[in-house]
Amino acid sequence: MRTGREVHPIVQADVTLPGSADMSARLSDVRQRELPRHIAIIMDGNGRWAKLRGQSRMSGHHQGMEAAERIVRFVGEDLGIKYLTLYAFSTENWNRPPEEVQYLMDLIREFLDEKLKMLLENEVRLRVLGDADGVPAPIRAEIERAMKLTESNQRFHLNIAFNYGGRQEILRAVQQIVHDRLNGDLNGDPIDEALFRRYLYTADQPDPDLLIRTSGEERISNFLLWQIAYAEFWVTKTLWPDFKPEELLDAIEAYQCRQRKFGAVVEP
Ligand code: FPP
Repeated sequence: MRTGREVHPIVQADVTLPGSADMSARLSDVRQRELPRHIAIIMDGNGRWAKLRGQSRMSGHHQGMEAAERIVRFVGEDLGIKYLTLYAFSTENWNRPPEEVQYLMDLIREFLDEKLKMLLENEVRLRVLGDADGVPAPIRAEIERAMKLTESNQRFHLNIAFNYGGRQEILRAVQQIVHDRLNGDLNGDPIDEALFRRYLYTADQPDPDLLIRTSGEERISNFLLWQIAYAEFWVTKTLWPDFKPEELLDAIEAYQCRQRKFGAVVEP
């Protein structure tokens, strides 16, 4: 599905979309094969990127934001993939130096302030996955507002995991199920996978098919623990601020060469 480049860019960033003939041919090829419906990305390496340049970690996060905008635009517009989840702040990231935590809070706020109009114009539904109660009240209010205003959009689904932890998400689901059961809201419904997933932040979304992590680390870091059960994992040594659409195509090409078996035996 081609999402309309003729409308407006999903985000306006100072980015150059790949325009080379090689890139266009690759894009056209991957679009003719089965694409992942949902891509999730652990954007790692902002700090190392900055350190390598003698800059502050904050500068790395700033560049990381630019990279995020570039990738959102490429996924939504050029690839026409409907779901993208970006890991922006984990429940463990509170343990970072206070000025870095503050900077990351400012970044999400800036994102919500500056991009909301574009998200609305481009029919993007924004979901912030995570424990909203744990973020400062003014940011929580902006998150709730942006989610509410975009909730009927269907063209592209952008999830930003913020104050997110996979274990916290699962515990929260269990607590809400117990609460609803005690309240009589679940009737006699069996507590099975279908019911459980309705209580996740990603309720009603397909699970990620492709999980990407940058900076060479090979860890899940408490990200989407339930949802990535059968995701294909692709790791690159590239530090997140340097991650470009070309490399996203590498990941998708690799994904398209894999045989997904979901635990079954598949004859070649
Ligand atoms: C991990 O790199 C990165 C983060 C914890 C922050 C990610 C945030 C962004 C990329 C900004 C995008 C924000 C939005 C709202 C889309 P690190 O700092 O752990 O890097 P290091 O391992 O090299 O120190």
